[in-house]
Amino acid sequence: MTGPIPTPPLPGGGDGVPVVAHGGRPAPDGGLFLALEGGDGAGKSTQADRLGAWLAGHGHEVVRTREPGGTALGRSLRELVLHGEDGSVVPRAEALIFAADRAQHVATVVRPALERGAVVVSDRYLDSSVAYQGAARALGHEEVRALSLWAVEGLLPDLTILLDVDPGEGRARRGAQHDRLEREADSFHDRVRQGFLALAAQEPDRYLLLDASRPADELAEEVRARVDVLLRSPEGAP
Ligand code: TYD
Repeated sequence: MTGPIPTPPLPGGGDGVPVVAHGGRPAPDGGLFLALEGGDGAGKSTQADRLGAWLAGHGHEVVRTREPGGTALGRSLRELVLHGEDGSVVPRAEALIFAADRAQHVATVVRPALERGAVVVSDRYLDSSVAYQGAARALGHEEVRALSLWAVEGLLPDLTILLDVDPGEGRARRGAQHDRLEREADSFHDRVRQGFLALAAQEPDRYLLLDASRPADELAEEVRARVDVLLRSPEGAP
């Protein structure tokens, strides 16, 4: 068949996958799903570690996890997608591998943790696919989002903490270690950045947007303050 491929339905509507906001938790006092997002070198892992330690210190069960690579299957997929030669994975295969990693991660780690009332702190989630594959690889925001939503049966974080980083600064912070995506040009990383910012602008209530160039202590304090509000609210909503 030639000609344009019809645009898939928007997520959350029509015959698309229903979007389950606020973790789809079974009970108001159930778990909380927090995701950290941002470009390479934004400092997500540092903030995720600090947030996890603070939550654990307040008596919560914390599941500190990551994408790609939060499961045994995910670790193999991570190796495939990040450590091949440049050009070894075509963009659509890349999007599918990240979606497969996410499907396994949600089904075997994230949902079980939320169901038993834990706080899940994930270093990257679905927005990374929208920003890297949807925006930077130009596969399309809605298509990539719909693919990932299908993979996770609609599960969205209660809060996404977006650490906004300038690509040049991110590169400087990353140092010498570069995986296949980190090796992409600054123009690629700038499209990633714009992809993340567009997501945060669409749903400001579900995002905490922070300037990653600020001191880590200040950022950690803002993150704690926002998460504290979520933990105190009966339904986890701001
Ligand atoms: P990450 O684990 O954050 O990098 P690090 O090696 O610093 O621990 O992420 C790995 C790379 O994968 C990063 O460049 C972003 C990219 N990525 C995507 O392109 N799409 C996705 O859906 C995800 C989760 C990550």
